[in-house]
Amino acid sequence: MEVLEAIRTRRSIRRYKTTPVDDKTIELVLEAARWAPSWANTQCWRFIVVRDSNIKDELANMIGDNRATDAVRNAPVVIVACAELGKSGYYYGEPATDKGDWYMFDVALAMQNLVLAAHSLGLGTVHVGLHFDTKKAASILGVPQGFCPVEMTPLGYPEEEPKIRPRRELSETVFYDKFGSK
Ligand SMILES: Cc1cc2nc3c(=O)[nH]c(=O)nc-3n(C[C@H](O)[C@H](O)[C@H](O)COP(=O)(O)O)c2cc1C
Repeated sequence: MEVLEAIRTRRSIRRYKTTPVDDKTIELVLEAARWAPSWANTQCWRFIVVRDSNIKDELANMIGDNRATDAVRNAPVVIVACAELGKSGYYYGEPATDKGDWYMFDVALAMQNLVLAAHSLGLGTVHVGLHFDTKKAASILGVPQGFCPVEMTPLGYPEEEPKIRPRRELSETVFYDKFGSK
């Protein structure tokens, strides 16, 4: 699938078929994530591929009342994105900008590569951030100190074709030369 088409036609998928996703396909989407750009190529991301139903249950319970809870419980795979802290945005161990740790930014780039690649292969995903509890996720998944679980997505074949969520027009989003200037 061409990249602009993938960007335009991807939707958040919250209902999945039980059809399994084979290892080769999972590797393809992880490869796409691996090729994302990152701060000084530090690649702070790590990915946990969860197939175990008990662990998926625990992750689903963690997010509780979330539109994606059933998807996390029932999709054949859940991919959890983690970040190594103190790498992205750092220079010789010190934050190099007034924004501190850029791990959210780098993980987002990798995860967006992943969800677009998944979509191009006919798979569905949905970024899950609401009620994603860092401490609980770390405990469920055995994530060591120095790493932070950031978000997760179910991965599987879509059982729905959701409606398009509208986007603000470019005319309201883009300025020229100065903020607010159209
Ligand atoms: C950082 C982030 C966190 C999100 N968290 C959730 C979530 O917890 N639960 C959920 O159902 N959708 C979540 N979403 C999906 C958004 O609701 C969705 O992307 C948005 O409504 C646009 O719809 P679309 O992805 O189908 O274009 C999240 C998206 C992003 C980017």
